[in-house]
Amino acid sequence: MINTDTSPLKHSGISNYLDITQKIETPVYVYDSEIIINQYQNLKKIIAALGKSIQVRYAIKANSNQAILKLLHGQGCGVEVVSGGELLKALKAGISSNKIIFSGIGKTHKEITLAIQKEIEQLSVESLEELHAVKKIAATLQKPISIGLRLNPNIEAKTHKKITTGTDKNKFGIPLDQLMEAVSITHSSPYLNFLGISVHIGSQIQDINAYRQVFKQLKSLVSSLAFEGYLVKRLDLGGGFYVPYTLSGSPQFDLDAYAKSFQEELGDLNCEFVIEPGRYLVAESGLLLTKVLYIKKTPARTFVIVDAGMNDMMRTALYDIEHPVVLCSDKENDTEQMIVDVVGPVCESSDFFASQISLPKNLKAGDILAITHTGAYGTSLSSTYNSRPLIPEVMIDKGLSYLIRESITPEHLLSFETCKRLV
Ligand SMILES: Cc1ncc(COP(=O)(O)O)c(C=O)c1O
Repeated sequence: MINTDTSPLKHSGISNYLDITQKIETPVYVYDSEIIINQYQNLKKIIAALGKSIQVRYAIKANSNQAILKLLHGQGCGVEVVSGGELLKALKAGISSNKIIFSGIGKTHKEITLAIQKEIEQLSVESLEELHAVKKIAATLQKPISIGLRLNPNIEAKTHKKITTGTDKNKFGIPLDQLMEAVSITHSSPYLNFLGISVHIGSQIQDINAYRQVFKQLKSLVSSLAFEGYLVKRLDLGGGFYVPYTLSGSPQFDLDAYAKSFQEELGDLNCEFVIEPGRYLVAESGLLLTKVLYIKKTPARTFVIVDAGMNDMMRTALYDIEHPVVLCSDKENDTEQMIVDVVGPVCESSDFFASQISLPKNLKAGDILAITHTGAYGTSLSSTYNSRPLIPEVMIDKGLSYLIRESITPEHLLSFETCKRLV
């Protein structure tokens, strides 16, 4: 039996992936465009059924490759960005500024200026201090900017602590007890256009009740603001939808339950809504293809040493999450199995992808493994640690493979190292 368990392998066919590794050196990220479109369409179906105005703004920190931005833009999707660099990438991909939201707690003067000059759709402001800075910059430029105030609702998203963003211990958003002041500051300037409230409580959220609590809090906030004479035109509900990092594809994020709690808590509000999914749209479309370099046997362990490292795919080292690792090969794999650790070449013990998993006993150097579900926070989190390259990216679209990012080699990187006298 050929190992075609994972959805991208199944979808585009194992031979397509093997062909790619014949043409381009591993490690390489490969994305399947149709899986991204399907995920987007899943959201659109639910939105259509709700019959409300809900805009989708893809959080490009998940994967900001131009090909992916253009693909989603072609479907009508806007974006959420968190840096000047991401803003430039979005504009370069042809996304119109009226479909770009800019969030983040540490926007620089330069970034705020760029956002105002580009007349973006929404600047999500995350503190009173930042709001004062935005007010000043907009006044200097004498240009308007639409403001979303990011609320920190102090709600536990019940996800990994490193991707929890909505509790009072987290650095994100404005605490509830400072929000009225923020709204009032926003109304004190002719250049600040108060759109509404945004919120994002974390990533990989499975617990729909956490979302429900957020919705309840937003509903009550809208009433309190209305009581003070402030109109909320928009509620930006953030992202965070769960992705199953499993070969079976389960458990799925319960979109129906999410929609139900949205309808029950916020359905009677007359404002516009936004969601900012990142991972949900792209995670399952991606595979990291890596070659087996050595199979190292020690008395305690069998290590499958591959050519991808933690610098290429940080998620395991960062969040202790193991992605499925499967043999991407057209040879039979119902042979005897062995228990192995799949590790990279980087000089850190945290440089591993899987511990004590089962792979065919006849695995050998040169075989290709696929680390699945790596379309989100894979390449976007990668680094050049150990002076390794930034690896290439490929997209399979309608059966054809396209190189969508060249490798950025140590030679490239070295060309930036210099010794210029400053003072
Ligand atoms: C403000 C904001 N919106 C959306 C997202 C996307 O989250 P996810 O990829 O979990 O959907 C993030 C992720 O950090 C975020 O910070």
